[in-house]
Amino acid sequence: MILRKAEDVTPAVQRAMAGASDARLRTLMASLVLHLHDFVRETRPTEAEFEKAIEFVVGLGQATNTTHNEAVLFADAVGISTLVCLLNNGMSGAPETAAALLGPFWRKNAPSVAKGGSIVRCDTPGEALFVNGRVRDPAGQSLADVSIDVWQASPAGMYENQDAGQADMNLRGTLQSDADGVFAFRTVKPSGYPVPTHGPVGGLLRAQARSPMRPAHIHFLLHKPGFKTLITQVFVADDQYLENDVVFGVTGDLVGNFIANAAGTPAPAADVSGTWHSLDHVFVMEPGESVLPHPPIA
Ligand code: BEZ
Ligand code: FE
Repeated sequence: MILRKAEDVTPAVQRAMAGASDARLRTLMASLVLHLHDFVRETRPTEAEFEKAIEFVVGLGQATNTTHNEAVLFADAVGISTLVCLLNNGMSGAPETAAALLGPFWRKNAPSVAKGGSIVRCDTPGEALFVNGRVRDPAGQSLADVSIDVWQASPAGMYENQDAGQADMNLRGTLQSDADGVFAFRTVKPSGYPVPTHGPVGGLLRAQARSPMRPAHIHFLLHKPGFKTLITQVFVADDQYLENDVVFGVTGDLVGNFIANAAGTPAPAADVSGTWHSLDHVFVMEPGESVLPHPPIA
């Protein structure tokens, strides 16, 4: 089709894409092009702005490697990851869903940890934290044999893959729920941390005068055949960034009941000194397909 004017472009592209045999691809692309063209008509980017936008997209790829995923970070920082998560989980997107975004730091094959074992694999600063989880279905039935991946940043604010000072797989582990749906592990209380800002997303956050901070949290990925994989995070209630998470991951149900115990209070392990913490949390898995996400990093 020979185009005569700006109004001819959108229908020409829609026609060109109409032959895709995959119906879902047809729907997604038709809507995406419509919205993008409307965006261009509404905001009328200059050619220099368009060039900058292309550079930004190229930068997302260039900043992505086996240990960092800038594309996921961008989706997170503009709320897309949370929106997709909320629309796909918890009673078709009820706001108090138990799911939260995966983020860019999940690694597959974390070492398995026996019930009550520790995920601290090297000298790591921070107060001891004992996590007790229980997994159940929506009817309250305990779920045994759930595989639970946990991962968190160190109290210094970095995941082990970002920090040469931490052992491989430090603060990561895979647990199994027992016959009562219970799992337990020892770790250190997490702190808030900044998302990586060395790439184009960091530039965008600075240009928008946004804080790069996430409130302290622990990630959980629960997997059991016959149940929808539950990807979630549990947040520390008194964290100063709870209301201002750069990736919009905090929903009400995910604020954990962390309890601080004064130094000297009998702890679950003999070597604990100083203040220590406990967290009891219930995880509800919905029946569904147990698909695992593609790991954002190797
Ligand atoms: C995280 O919690 O690991 C995370 C989530 C989104 C962006 C960066 C980090
Ligand atoms: Fe995190």
